[in-house]
Amino acid sequence: RDSDVVLGLESSCDETAAALLRADGTILAEAVLSQLEDHTPYGGVVPEIAARAHLAHLPGLVRRVMGEAGVGPGDLAAVAATAGPGLIGGLIVGATLGKGIALAAGVPYLGINHLEGHALTPRLPGVFAGGLQFPYLLMLLSGGHCQCVKVEGVGRHVRLGTTLDDAVGEAFDKSAKLMGLPWPGGPHLERLAASGDPTRFVLPRPLLGRPGCDFSFSGLKTAVANIVAKGVDEQGRADLAAGFQAAVAATLADRAAHALAMVPDATALVVAGGVAANQGIRAALTAVAGRAGLPLVAPPIRLCTDNAVMIAWAGIERLRAGLTEALDHAPRPRWPL
Ligand code: KG4
Ligand code: ZN
Repeated sequence: RDSDVVLGLESSCDETAAALLRADGTILAEAVLSQLEDHTPYGGVVPEIAARAHLAHLPGLVRRVMGEAGVGPGDLAAVAATAGPGLIGGLIVGATLGKGIALAAGVPYLGINHLEGHALTPRLPGVFAGGLQFPYLLMLLSGGHCQCVKVEGVGRHVRLGTTLDDAVGEAFDKSAKLMGLPWPGGPHLERLAASGDPTRFVLPRPLLGRPGCDFSFSGLKTAVANIVAKGVDEQGRADLAAGFQAAVAATLADRAAHALAMVPDATALVVAGGVAANQGIRAALTAVAGRAGLPLVAPPIRLCTDNAVMIAWAGIERLRAGLTEALDHAPRPRWPL
């Protein structure tokens, strides 16, 4: 088929998303529906609610992007859907819809690892001037994942380090909750930190200076809980938020420096995931990359958080490498890179 348009679907957590991309990376249409309001009353993502919301909204979202792009099933070259890791109900919705469309259109199905979607997005043309070459060091910083990964090629990754307890976004969200901020607390905490003094509360910097690039955030969260339990006023909350963010930024910078030393041939330090939206963390990582003589590459925020452009793009890269899946490919709630 002449067409080079790939449909991407994302439904692994609480974002329902669809996108259409050309093989050269041109985004023909993209849409993301956040389920935030559905889950906010529960203070976290409820799997059953998420699955039902994906089922209710994903087909309409696909129709919408295809309508916007003026693309019919006959114009597709392949369909890519997130097949894991994530909440199994949502994964089944997206993968099954993706397989159905692929079958009806007579094109290949690609079952994408969500983490590979994050990992390959910085190679999307336009994200990094000149194009990002393998290998590079990826720091995946989200609510569900916290990893240092050497990305060697399409389908070729080496995980260098991961969190021993909470993911970094989880640490932001739990600490923000302790500070009385709405869920998900990361962006609220960053806003509060802007008016705080980061030196007032000296919080632990877990694993700082230790070999390797694993992470640990539970001690930091406990320290926040202890300070809150003693009582903090309004300025105290801002100071605590600033201290927390500074501790996380210093920890991530230390871990990134260790990881870069483990990948001497890296062409760049790359950040992805929702926490990559944090300006303080970006600044700390820019400094680390600069000391190693490397650029810090961060996709635009809307491509850092969960979306379907990254799934379609990973699909394009995998299709080019000849890596497609059979229609009996099973979604996997756990699927390490
Ligand atoms: O990648 P993402 O959208 O979803 C997954 O977890 O896969 O990441 C969401 C996480 C949440 O924990 C959220 O609080 C955090 O990213 N986050 C931030 C900021 N924006 C989002 N954390 C710190 N500072 C921010 N500005
Ligand atoms: Zn994600």
